[in-house]
Amino acid sequence: MCGIVGVLGNHEAAPILVEALKRLEYRGYDSAGIATVNHDRLDRRRAVGKLVNLSDLLVHEPLAGKSGIGHTRWATHGAPNVGNAHPHQSGGVAVVHNGIIENFRELRTFLTENGISFQTDTDTETIALLAQHYRNQGLSPRDAAEQTIARLEGAYALCFLFDGEDDLLIAARKGSPLAIGHGEGEMFVGSDAIALAPMTDKITYLEEGDWAIVTRNSVEIRDREGNIANRALKTIQIDTAQVDKAGYKHFMAKEIAEQPTVLQGALAHYINADGTAVTLPEPGIDFTQIERLTLVACGTAYYACMVAKYWFEQIARLPVEIDVASEFRYREPPVTPGTVALFVSQSGETADTLAALRYMEGKADKILSVVNVPESSIARESDLALPILAGTEIGVASTKAFTCQLTTLAILALKAAQARGHMDEDALAEKLAGLRALPGIMNLALQIESRTDQLATKLAEARDILFLGRGAMYPLAHEGALKLKEISYIHAEAYASGELKHGPIALVDKHVPVIVMAPRDALFDKTISNMQEVMARGGKVLLITDAEGAKEAGEGVWETILMPEIDPFLAPILYALPAQLLAYHTAVAKGTDVDQPRNLAKSVTVE
Ligand code: AGP
Repeated sequence: MCGIVGVLGNHEAAPILVEALKRLEYRGYDSAGIATVNHDRLDRRRAVGKLVNLSDLLVHEPLAGKSGIGHTRWATHGAPNVGNAHPHQSGGVAVVHNGIIENFRELRTFLTENGISFQTDTDTETIALLAQHYRNQGLSPRDAAEQTIARLEGAYALCFLFDGEDDLLIAARKGSPLAIGHGEGEMFVGSDAIALAPMTDKITYLEEGDWAIVTRNSVEIRDREGNIANRALKTIQIDTAQVDKAGYKHFMAKEIAEQPTVLQGALAHYINADGTAVTLPEPGIDFTQIERLTLVACGTAYYACMVAKYWFEQIARLPVEIDVASEFRYREPPVTPGTVALFVSQSGETADTLAALRYMEGKADKILSVVNVPESSIARESDLALPILAGTEIGVASTKAFTCQLTTLAILALKAAQARGHMDEDALAEKLAGLRALPGIMNLALQIESRTDQLATKLAEARDILFLGRGAMYPLAHEGALKLKEISYIHAEAYASGELKHGPIALVDKHVPVIVMAPRDALFDKTISNMQEVMARGGKVLLITDAEGAKEAGEGVWETILMPEIDPFLAPILYALPAQLLAYHTAVAKGTDVDQPRNLAKSVTVE
């Protein structure tokens, strides 16, 4: 996902812009650039690859000026090269953009008919050319920007900079988040509060369809109808310690290690002091009124929903439908009375999940969300947003957010079980006690790290790897496969253990490691028999279980990772650790960019 920054400052803008862009690196990008206005002259510098390349360029070709915009680009239209990098400029207009302009071809036709030619094949250049077209017709920068924004269709977060205007930024958002940072006689624009944290913690989030006229001492926000809009000025607690590696080699390593600590925060937030009850934020959730729960998400968050389906259906006897957001929103599912929709999203900005939420508006009885960013779009558009309190997650591969999502969903499932009469107070207290003990068990489990590091050198040689699981561990097989492929680039697939013999077992030979996630739950024996089918065909089984399980599994296992004993209800949360650590160390062994893997973005705010 692209990152946007803007500065109307009292100091040279270039270093501030680059520093702010560094704090957006976690979003994933393949080129970067900045533009400034200096003595009324607009100029820009752009570079392919990491920000260090832009910094090098700025050493040799400095860019002066106290007003500027910057961008990290995750390519959507057009290859990642300097020509397609932002800011895009046309005459005296520069613009940075996050999102996709869906009607850019129609706009290009309009501009071509007006004698305007193009330098790039990006949708963003069309925005700059259109604004310059209106400037050429005599419109002021503000009016030219307003006319341009009015013609855009699709998703965008934009920031315009104009030559001759060193005290003006025009910002706009539709679909992609954008924040305004209030300084002392300075003003800033950024894709999120993390980028602006070094400059200010006073943040105003633009709402859907808003655009803003920003000067050093004023912010005028207009809504989609053009009316003056008053948006809250919030003080955002960004613990800057959360956005540095604290001595770890990668953010992902730090975030894996943080899980016991952040889980404690989530548990304390929802479980009362004596551990006997669950407290949800107002207006709460009346699970007795829910006939069907629809869970929708993408990627890792979707696998959390897959686990939650087992929990809600098994312990609360609540029917659950799940789907990935990109499919859900287009299959137009009928919504029956008594349906509540719940959206899970770490960033709270994933375009497909947000669109699925909007599909359910007016259809579902209630819209709930489980998010890590309380001020995000998905949170703001929910009737009730439940925070997971994982803290800022920088690594593109989600780790602590996943286990905090699972913890929050487990708490909701327990609340539902009690409310629907399927769990008495003693049983609830026992399960809540198990959850409260989980951070300690996770700390213990993290001792497998050296073992996973040792196994990673073997996994790094593989071309294909299979993950197997049954029941609530089947989604964990998917999460393990996703973690591995998204950061080590090794092809990995997940199967329900029982499904292997229906075709995928044909893939098994001595070159294919098969990772079996097998806590000692009700399906353990069946999983072990599936595992033996694999070994009988020469497959190399890496078994993840506890000591007793390893004994019961018998001889012939290629490798084993021993986990602490755990209540099967909580095993999906605990077994995320080996999945994460195997992926992390395999990626390190392969030398990939662990925190910003190729082609990926931390939050996919484009469809
Ligand atoms: C997970 O490691 C990936 N980064 C990706 O699948 C992610 O979970 C997905 O894009 C959903 O993001 P969200 O939770 O911010 O909506």
